[in-house]
Amino acid sequence: MSDVPVLSVRALTRHYTAGGGLVRALDGVSLDVAAGELVGIFGPSGSGKSTFLMLAGLLENPTSGDVWLAGERVSHAGADLDALRETRRKRIGFVFQKANLIPFLSAVENVALSLEIADVAPADARAHGRRLLAALDLAHRADSLPAKLSGGEQQRVAVARALANAPPLILADEPTAALDSVRGRQVMEIFRRIAAAHGTAVLVITHDPRSTDLFDRIVHFEDGRVCAGKAHP
Ligand SMILES: Nc1ncnc2c1ncn2[C@@H]1O[C@H](COP(=O)(O)OP(=O)(O)OP(=O)(O)O)[C@@H](O)[C@H]1O
Ligand SMILES: [Mg+2]
Repeated sequence: MSDVPVLSVRALTRHYTAGGGLVRALDGVSLDVAAGELVGIFGPSGSGKSTFLMLAGLLENPTSGDVWLAGERVSHAGADLDALRETRRKRIGFVFQKANLIPFLSAVENVALSLEIADVAPADARAHGRRLLAALDLAHRADSLPAKLSGGEQQRVAVARALANAPPLILADEPTAALDSVRGRQVMEIFRRIAAAHGTAVLVITHDPRSTDLFDRIVHFEDGRVCAGKAHP
């Protein structure tokens, strides 16, 4: 496997002006995530975790610093985010706290949609969607509408959707926050499995200390920086 990190961020800062003052949401973060690695990001509320994920996910530009995917510099201050849409779609899977499934599409249609956007023929997209759902123990829910699914099931559909294009990088922002501990653990175990089986680099923001045993590495954020020397949440 290549030694080049799947994700590499260098000296990333993001400043906001709010209420006349300057907020240093991120204040010089550098981080590498390798293929197959599951990294947990912990840190107090307001420490810059979600800001980091937005920048690493090419959804926002940094104030300074840069983001590299597989050795290619993709984002920096002033980068054209619209031009990065394809890169984002092909190379990054997102999972957020809420599943945000399209309510009038079935589970499998929700998963297939991201493949169809990538020009996969609808029948193939659905077949692949069913395989992914089956791998997440959701074969029996494939034709259900999101409203008929439990929170944990909806979140697993969201994970299947994030995996649909087989991205080398998954970014998840508190994916288990709305789940009970058993369902939350299941979702974290899925990430562990994906990282091991497919060499996917997975970065998960979480406040939940109960899944720390699954992570290869834990990174702590504090005041917009990576807090060195703190190994446990
Ligand atoms: N669009 C914005 N405009 C102004 N300030 C912002 C904006 N987005 C984030 N911030 C500020 O940046 C800081 C970091 O926010 P961020 O959402 O990254 O924290 P977080 O670590 O994800 O917190 P939480 O655990 O509560 O989700 C906070 O002080 C926040 O108020
Ligand atoms: Mg956040």
